[in-house]
Parts: sequence; structure tokens; C-alpha cells
Amino acid sequence: MITYVSDTQHIDRLIDTLRQAADGFKHDKSEKDRVIALKAAQDLVGALQKPRDAVIQLSYSPTQILCVRIGIDLDVFTTLTNRNVPLAIEELAAVKNADLMLTERVLRVLAGIGYVVEHDIRIYAANTMTRQMSTRESDATVKFLFDVGMPSLAKTPEYFRQASFQSPAETNNGPFQYGEKTEKSLWEWFAQCPESGKDFDTYMEGNRGDNLNWVDWFPVQERLIDGYEASEGDVLLVDVAGGRGHELAAFQAKFPNALGRLILEDQPGVLPGNDSGRKIESLSFDLFKPQPIQDARIYYMKFILHDWADAQCHEILQHLRAAMKKGYSKLIIEEFILPDKGAPLAQTMLDWQMMVFCSSMERTRDHWEKLLTSAGFQMVKFWFPPRQGQGIIEAEVA
Ligand SMILES: C[S@@+](CC[C@H](N)C(=O)[O-])C[C@H]1O[C@@H](n2cnc3c(N)ncnc32)[C@H](O)[C@@H]1O
Repeated sequence: MITYVSDTQHIDRLIDTLRQAADGFKHDKSEKDRVIALKAAQDLVGALQKPRDAVIQLSYSPTQILCVRIGIDLDVFTTLTNRNVPLAIEELAAVKNADLMLTERVLRVLAGIGYVVEHDIRIYAANTMTRQMSTRESDATVKFLFDVGMPSLAKTPEYFRQASFQSPAETNNGPFQYGEKTEKSLWEWFAQCPESGKDFDTYMEGNRGDNLNWVDWFPVQERLIDGYEASEGDVLLVDVAGGRGHELAAFQAKFPNALGRLILEDQPGVLPGNDSGRKIESLSFDLFKPQPIQDARIYYMKFILHDWADAQCHEILQHLRAAMKKGYSKLIIEEFILPDKGAPLAQTMLDWQMMVFCSSMERTRDHWEKLLTSAGFQMVKFWFPPRQGQGIIEAEVA
């Protein structure tokens, strides 16, 4: 837990933990040690920072993502990555014919947060973060969350004041609608802002971050593939609202010889076209209409139910249950399972993004269990990844 300006014993303990875990990580590349070392290092910053400074730092912090966002527009990250040599401010500003002083002020912040290297006076070079920011997924993540998220975030306190501090429960009536002055849900709103919709879909391709893919830690072969009853035309896996199909592609790469059809379902504007080289079949569908694929072995949903309030989740689950074969079909939900205490900060921040964009939420284990049983499912098991990341909720028709 971060404690601001603490006693020297606390600092000593954090340094010991950091040193031990960092040594473990250096020695055998242990992921567990890396995560412990990172947490100790973050706590150490909190322990060393003075409280008034901490408040000022937090209050100024939106300028960090602001400068990353302008850096994208100035092509700073792609230019430094592609040229791969230190570049003077004049060369960086020339890419978009930008004002020299403006470019320098952006780059100072980017150097301050480690997104570029200040190689010499007004000369900058790429580092790991510059290269990361030059990828399409990271570019789209910042663009979507800044361009679409920030206006609504700024209006969210006002939203709650006028809503007497009640949680929003309607997809079409929450902080996003208040900020954007719209009655459309985020998904409907994308039709009028297709560029943001595309950014969102690209952001989703990278939404796992550096966390392990479920196919690399969940016993997919034993729990799911082995039970598949092969008869011609049968479906092994349906990725329900699977976006552009990145999770199915990972599944296919991991289990190239698994029998059965792989179906990708989403809205028509999101789905990639069916191409003959891919085993994956695209099928347009609506979460709130009957599920078009019956009796598949696996119905997989990642980051879908966290987009919806309980009432809509119930409806989505009812459609799935009606399509599933009792005793055979498996429901596999990949989502965060919030602990009752000590929820990781990243998960609590995403919880707020869900509130703002979709009037929805991340859920605890009890909440998941209640939701699923009320929709006619029985819980089989909650599975947790070897380190941080989304868990797997395995359920069947009750
Ligand atoms: C948070 S994204 C998750 C995408 C993907 N499962 C992943 O984890 O990357 C939610 C998905 O739900 C889809 N979606 C939203 N409303 C839908 C609806 N009514 N019917 C079908 N799909 C919908 C969106 O197009 C989007 O691809």
C-alpha cells in the first residue's frame, strides 16, 4: 500500500523487498519477482514523496497524457523510431511544420516521463517507450482514451452532482452521454464518429497489454478441447463479440490441429471480412437477439459483460444459455475478478472507465457468481492467471 512520507523502517523494508525481488528477476527472469519489485518500487516513490508535492504532482499529471497525445499528432514517436538516430528539435518540429517552442515543450514532458530520451540539449532519441508508442495498438489506446474519454471524465463529477451521487445503470444515460450531450450508447455513437470507433477496435486488439494470453495458462486442451464431440460442421469455439478476431487468431495459433469450426461474432462494422486463408468464420450478430450458433462446445466472451449493467448482462446470458447444450457446452468468460480487498489499481481504474463509457463495472467474485446463477448457470470454477491479469470464469448451464 502506498503511504506518503513514512518512517525510515518502512522505507528500509521496501528497499529490502525491492532488492530481493529485483535480484530474483535479474537472476531467473521470474515474472513473480518482477511484479513484486515493481510494486515495492512504486510504494517506495510514495514513501519518499512529501504529501503536498504528491498532491501537486497528481494534479499536474493529466499534462502527461496530453503531451503523449500531441506527440502522436506530431509523429514524434514514429519519426524517432523509424530514423533510429538522435534528432534535433528542428528536425522533429519540421515533420508537421510545428512551432519549435511548442515541440520542445512537448518533448520536455515526454523526456520527463521516459517516453523519449533527452540525448543532448534539444536533441532527442527513441527508447523502449518511444518504440512502444509507435505501434498501432498503443497509438489507438491513447487516442481513444484521450479523445473520447477525457471530455466525459472532465464532466463526470458534475454528472454525479446532478444525479445525487447514484451509480448510473442505463447504457444510454451515464457520464458519457452527459459529457457528449447524446442519448446514444458508446456503440451507437461510434456510427457518427467512425474514426474513434476504429481507434477503439484497434485499442481492443492490444487490450491484454503484456499479460499472458489465456490460451497460454488455462488448461484449454484438458478442460475444453478434449471434450469436443466431433461431427461434421460442429463448432468448437464461438468468440462472442470478439472484435476483429485477435483472440480467435491466438487460439488457432496455439491449437492449429483442434477440430471444429471457429466462429467470430460481432457487429458488422467491426468484423474483418472472411478470407479463405483463415479458418475463422465471421458472423454478424446482436448480443440482445437469439444466439445464432447452437450447441457449440465453447462460448467465449472477453471484456463483454463488463460493458453492461447487470440487467443487460442477464439478457445477454439468457440468449447464450438458450443456445447452449446442457452437460456439453461451456461458458468461458475472461474478465477481471476484483478481490474484495486490495484491488489492483489498474483494475480499479478500468472500473471507472467502464462507469464513464458504459454505465457498467468490473465485478467481484460474489457479484459474478450471483449474476451467473440468476441467469441459470452453475459456476464450475474461478481461474486466476499465474500473475496479474484477467481471470477465467468457467460456467455451465445449470
Ligand atoms: C470491449 S469490446 C471487446 C472485444 C473483444 N472481445 C476483446 O476482448 O478484444 C466489446 C465488443 O462488443 C461489441 N458489441 C457492442 N454491442 C454489441 C451488440 N449489441 N451486439 C454485438 N456486439 C456488440 C463491440 O463491437 C466490441 O467489439
